[in-house]
Amino acid sequence: MSDQFSPSLADGGDGDDAPPGPGHVIPSGPTVATEVDLSTHYLGLELATPIVASAGPFTGDLASLRALDAAGIGAVVLPSLFEEQLVHEADQVERYSSYGSDANPEAPGGYVPNLDQYNEGAVRYLRLIREAQQVVRGPVIASLNGVTTGGWVRYAQLLADAGADAVELNVYRVAADTQVSGRQVEVETLRLVESVAEATNVPIAVKLSPHWSAMASFATQLAEAGADGLVLFNRFYQPDIDLDTLSVTPHLVLSDSDELRLPLRWCAIMHGRVDASLAASTGVHTHRDVLKLLLAGADVTMSTSALLRHGPAHVATLTQGVREWMQARGYSSVDELRGAISQRTVRDPAAFERANYLETLTSYASTFLR
Ligand SMILES: Cc1cc2nc3c(=O)[nH]c(=O)nc-3n(C[C@H](O)[C@H](O)[C@H](O)COP(=O)(O)O)c2cc1C
Repeated sequence: MSDQFSPSLADGGDGDDAPPGPGHVIPSGPTVATEVDLSTHYLGLELATPIVASAGPFTGDLASLRALDAAGIGAVVLPSLFEEQLVHEADQVERYSSYGSDANPEAPGGYVPNLDQYNEGAVRYLRLIREAQQVVRGPVIASLNGVTTGGWVRYAQLLADAGADAVELNVYRVAADTQVSGRQVEVETLRLVESVAEATNVPIAVKLSPHWSAMASFATQLAEAGADGLVLFNRFYQPDIDLDTLSVTPHLVLSDSDELRLPLRWCAIMHGRVDASLAASTGVHTHRDVLKLLLAGADVTMSTSALLRHGPAHVATLTQGVREWMQARGYSSVDELRGAISQRTVRDPAAFERANYLETLTSYASTFLR
């Protein structure tokens, strides 16, 4: 087996203290770096650090946003505004805007009582964007969660008008319809991304689940459809069955660092191949997780579970850990690190992955049979 097919970070398997990939030597930067530049670019926006708070309960809360900013967060993604919420509101607005338009000569365009009464979700969300902009120095990214095209998509521009620096489109869909093919799901998603990109004048990120059949090709198509960045990945919440009550129960378990290897692999594959910024989400808990993802090619790393577990001050711990590691290795900037252990130079990533798979199995078997 050639060097090219040595085991890599794409198969993970390294402990928290090991360098990111047994077959790789971490390239070091210059020998002494006193100042470390942690700034990075994501979606064309400049961030002071690559550590971002992904959508979650505390990014919807002003006090927590303030604490995240004080701890040095690079950017925040607000919790999602849901298509179902917006479609419901649009229906109500439509109903009320036509109500009484014939009867009231002073309201020929339709009688719209007070939009707040019918639009509470979106109105509150627009207010959150404005308030978040007051307390967070880095970019504030709004999030829309939806799967179909339609009138609700126009809310993307309202989010931008309220001050969002970018919009993250969270495509959370379980393809459970037996009559809907994978290609159909892809085409519908591409149309959705196109319509959101057309509806807004700020950058768009698309947050994906890992369940797409040909991820690299689909990612390329998403970039062509208007996605400026990809968030790899959302995490599905899988319900459980309670054997006592015989009912389906929601089951939300926070992630841990073991789950990092999925975004790690895909950042390594996508870096330099897809014309979009890369954000890694899922399993980012320690400064080592952040560093591994940057080495794999992520532009930013996102955390929710770790911040829920340790609180907003954890951002400062992550930042300090990244800074110290870089200083010790002689790196002076995130730019020097980014993608240093990606698969950018690998001619055939599919063959590379398969070789790693075989290598992993054979090395495990040889330990077992020893
Ligand atoms: C309680 C909770 C609420 C979340 N709400 C949202 C949301 O509104 N929109 C979204 O895109 N992701 C949401 N997420 C997903 C996170 O943003 C993140 O992608 C996921 O938890 C994986 O990252 P982690 O391993 O750092 O937790 C939520 C996660 C949690 C735990």
